[in-house]
Amino acid sequence: MVTFASATTKTMKQFTTLLTEITDGILLITINREDKLNALNKALIGELDEVITELYNNPEIKGAIITGKGSKAFAAGADIAEFKGLDEAAGKALAKRGHAVFNKIESSPKPVIAAVNGFALGGGCELAMACHLRIASENAKFGQPEVKLGIIPGYGGTQRLVQLIGKGKALELLMTGDTIDAAAAERLGLVNDVVQTVELLDITRVMMNKITAMAPIAIAKVIESVYAHFKDGIDGFDTETELFGKCVATQDFVEGTTAFLEKRKAKFTGK
Ligand code: COA
Repeated sequence: MVTFASATTKTMKQFTTLLTEITDGILLITINREDKLNALNKALIGELDEVITELYNNPEIKGAIITGKGSKAFAAGADIAEFKGLDEAAGKALAKRGHAVFNKIESSPKPVIAAVNGFALGGGCELAMACHLRIASENAKFGQPEVKLGIIPGYGGTQRLVQLIGKGKALELLMTGDTIDAAAAERLGLVNDVVQTVELLDITRVMMNKITAMAPIAIAKVIESVYAHFKDGIDGFDTETELFGKCVATQDFVEGTTAFLEKRKAKFTGK
């Protein structure tokens, strides 16, 4: 078990569907609908939007971890109870809203890691995939079972699953609605690592601390440059050239290179 010395923890404002706390600059977002296996309802998507905006704007926050309350689920999908009576226009609006929030997570200049602690189905799997990295506990389960309900994923799942695991396996999971375990998810590249359930949050924090110890602008530019690969009409190599230039113009570049030559640890300031 990893222990964190001198941790300082602050809670953000109260939400109805999320728990939030900031510990040593890391925002922990816990989906808090355990009795509904953390299903993502409209209120939750709205609150998540608010919390992600805080991640962008609060200079005290260096990165975010998203997890689910309890030992059973990260999130078992969009809230099916809210699907009743949806028509075409309302369905489109629901997907559009989810896309906006999940795209905001993916585009965050600060790292976001999913600590997947159980079922990540439907919108839960899509939320995990919108994060930059995914660490899963041994009991985690992944799937896009929407076809069983007569729909397709609506929060980016048809796109991000292909990006992460390739067309063949993505089509298989999307068309069968099958659920896979954490070991299979790791083999497919859907998750970065599988760890013991009791160590999930600690190991996720270790990964996060490793990333946030790097130059923050370089991390933001890595994220931007990698995602440029997936944007239509954008040459990712051009983006990389542009962003490499921007990094070279930072104080942290001077600090990083000087620290290397002086054989000391760099002290990055994010400037
Ligand atoms: N939306 C709304 N409620 C959900 C939900 C969802 N996506 N997933 C689970 N729940 C609710 C159940 O309705 C149940 O509520 P209740 O106690 O008020 O009846 C509670 O969470 C517990 O779920 P339950 O199905 O009893 O647990 P289980 O251990 O038997 O099964 C799952 C777990 C994940 C296999 C099952 O809940 C399931 O298939 N969920 C839906 C997954 C899905 O299709 N997601 C994609 C949605 S687009």
